[in-house]
Amino acid sequence: MKVWMSLVILSACLIITGCNQEESQQSDKQSEDAETKETQVEPKEEPETDTADRKVSEDGSMIEVEDPERMDVIVNKQRKLPEGYEPPDMTVPEVPFSFEEFHPKKQMREEAAGALEELFQSAEEEGMNLVAASGYRSYERQKTIYENSVAQNGEEYANRYSAKPGTSEHQTGLAMDVTSREMNFRLEQSFIDTEEGKWLEENAHRFGFVIRYPEGKTDITGYAYEPWHLRYLGEELAGKVHEQNKTLEEFFGLYPTNQ
Ligand code: DAL
Ligand code: ZN
Repeated sequence: MKVWMSLVILSACLIITGCNQEESQQSDKQSEDAETKETQVEPKEEPETDTADRKVSEDGSMIEVEDPERMDVIVNKQRKLPEGYEPPDMTVPEVPFSFEEFHPKKQMREEAAGALEELFQSAEEEGMNLVAASGYRSYERQKTIYENSVAQNGEEYANRYSAKPGTSEHQTGLAMDVTSREMNFRLEQSFIDTEEGKWLEENAHRFGFVIRYPEGKTDITGYAYEPWHLRYLGEELAGKVHEQNKTLEEFFGLYPTNQ
């Protein structure tokens, strides 16, 4: 009788334990399913990829930029504009110029021109006396400027201050050289010693511009310090470049090597 009872109790225990095991297996599976579901329901977002063309050739030779109309196009001594490139939507910004008559060099791309107007307006409100001097240049005009500089100053000097045709930001319609009455409209490094030059350095980014060829960065940009050369990038990018105190080449990891 006792043996019989023990067998009954043992069987009951085995059944209960089996059930519990099954239950625990089921709950393990449920939690696995829940985890799988969770990852399925909320897939991780892919980080945004910057699809812009940011290449330089490995051997330092010249390459052609792929999308010259982008506001963040990078043109430098290793990246030239496509042959015959002429920027779209060109307009003359309503700002004081160092000369009265119309000239193509008064023009900029529409977005950049609007931003320049805001920059000049704000500068004026703070008592600055800025004057625009030179914006858009065609390939042919840049060729003349470069060749004249070589003839007058020699090739080494010309290469520090003047881009070869096809490689100037002025051909993109996104650059404007800015000076002041105090400078007698000259484009010289002493501009940074004036109130206007300092104001530009500190404030240009708020309007989407950067000083494209900063002091002490000739090894990277390939050009001497040009406190007068404003390049439009749009507020977001200009703000980041300014904040990080970098050249465009440093910001995007592009280092021209054939200076
Ligand atoms: N002065 C700048 C580098 C240009 O010629 O585009
Ligand atoms: Zn310039």
